[in-house]
Parts: sequence; structure tokens; C-alpha cells
Amino acid sequence: MNIEINKEKCRVCGSCEAICPSRVFKKEDGKMRVHHIHACIECGHCLAVCHDEAIIHSSFPPSKLHKIDKEKLPSAESVLELCRSRRSNRAFSARSVPREMLDKILSAAHTAPTASNAQGVEYTVITSREHLEFIRRHTIKGYEKMYRMLAMPVVKQLVKIFAPKTYYMRKKIKRVIKEDKKGRDIVLRGATAVLLIHTPRDSRFGRDDANLAYQNASLMAESLGVSQFYGGFICSVVRRDKKRTLEKHFGIEGSVQAVMALGMPSVKFHSYIDRKELKVKFF
Ligand SMILES: Cc1cc2nc3c(=O)[nH]c(=O)nc-3n(C[C@H](O)[C@H](O)[C@H](O)COP(=O)(O)O)c2cc1C
Repeated sequence: MNIEINKEKCRVCGSCEAICPSRVFKKEDGKMRVHHIHACIECGHCLAVCHDEAIIHSSFPPSKLHKIDKEKLPSAESVLELCRSRRSNRAFSARSVPREMLDKILSAAHTAPTASNAQGVEYTVITSREHLEFIRRHTIKGYEKMYRMLAMPVVKQLVKIFAPKTYYMRKKIKRVIKEDKKGRDIVLRGATAVLLIHTPRDSRFGRDDANLAYQNASLMAESLGVSQFYGGFICSVVRRDKKRTLEKHFGIEGSVQAVMALGMPSVKFHSYIDRKELKVKFF
């Protein structure tokens, strides 16, 4: 990696020094200098903040630098309205999600922040009926296994005492299995696409990174009129599966950390309702 400052262009405003999280830049003798180049996390903040286009960074050729179109930015009210109107819509039509929409959802996810700017989040999109069916079956099998384990007398007693939340999960697990047996799929609920969000297995903040990407994706889905809900049942089975069945099935090297079920809506929301009271303290 190489970082240089074009001394002719640089007006020594100090913005790069102020913005850089790794203290790569330092003002010295009236000039900006590149100091700790090895500390650079390649976030690109220095280039994005420089008015003078004076920073030359080997990781960011000019083709990777784009002016922000401020006209396109939504107002604070628009952002809040989008957040309020984003809901989990599980009423899907049979129509598949157009590829351009999936691409936009992925682009939004891909801009989310990641710990240490690792950018290790990857995506697998499933739209084939056969593979969607595999996900549903795998989840139900996982739930059946969990239910059998929780029904063992010793486990039942221990879990009741030491993990009461898991103990009460039994009821939920039982309901999912029962509904599935009746032919009502409450794992995918008729979603026509599933987005698996995965990160390297050794990633310390993998789940956090994946869920931030999820939220960007869900806001984009909402603005495109695409329905989505969080595949929590799928996630809870995936997390317990030591054999990594789902990952292996789709050739995923890392760990699936977040799952989005998507489809086109058969009905739409016309109102939003208030959440429970906002609980916050300021100090
Ligand atoms: C971690 C997490 C797991 C979830 N798991 C599921 C799930 O497995 N199935 C489902 O239908 N909805 C699931 N949801 C959606 C929630 O039920 C939903 O977000 C909540 O009821 C609030 O509704 P809203 O998303 O419309 O605001 C999950 C949400 C989160 C954040």
C-alpha cells in the first residue's frame, strides 16, 4: 500500500489529519505528511474529505472516488418516515423479486460499516424453489432435534433451572414444528428469495457486521416496495449446527450470521403504529 500527498494541490487544511482514525497524517512544518502508513485501515476517509484531491492512495484510484450528490440525500424527515414505514411484511405474492431490486438491496447492504473496516461480509442469494425448500426442511429438522433434546427429562430440569428462556422456547419450537406438519410454512412464509449474510469464521464482530448490513438492506427493500422479514428461526438453527450443514450446502466458507426472507408483497401497509414508549437516559 502506498499513500502520498500531492504537495502542489494540498492547501494544508488538516482535514485528513482530523478525520483519519489511525493517525496516518500529521501536519509538520506547515506541511501535511504521511506518518503511520502501516496503520491505515483503507477506509478512504482521507480521500473523501480532501477538498483539494491531493491524496494519492494506491487502494483508491480515481475511479473509486465519487462526489456525493447532495441533491439526492433524503431529509431527516424522509429518513424517519422510511424507518417508521419499514415493517416485517410476511404476506408475499408468488411474484419473484426482480434481479435489479435484489442488486440494489445488495448494494445498500454492502455500504454498511464493518468493525475495523474489515469488509468481510459476503452474501448468498437463494431464489430456486429447490434450495428454498432445503432451507425450510433444514430449519424444521433442526427444531425437531432441539425439541427432542429439550424433552429429555434431565436436560428439561437443568434447562428449566439454568436457562429458563430456552426452556420457554420449547413452546415456540413446538408451534413451528406443528404448523409445518399442517403444511403451514412459518419458516419462510412463502418468501421467494432468501439472503444469507455471512462473515469469516474467525471474525470477532461478524454478527454485528452482518446485522448492520441487514438493516441497510431492509431499508432499501422497503424503499423498493419489496417485503422482507428477519429469518430468525433459520439463524437459531444455523448457530446450533456444528456440522455447518447450511453453509456446506451453499459452499459458504464463513458463518451465516443473518438471514433475510424476501418477496413481493401481496398486501401493503398504509399506516405505521407507535412503538412502545422510548426508553432513554441522557447524562
Ligand atoms: C433477531 C430477529 C429475529 C426475527 N426472527 C423472525 C422469524 O424467524 N420469523 C418472523 O416471521 N419474523 C422474525 N423477526 C421479525 C420480528 O418479529 C419483527 O421485527 C417484529 O415483530 C417487529 O415488527 P416489524 O419488523 O414489522 O417492525 C425477527 C426479528 C429480529 C430482529
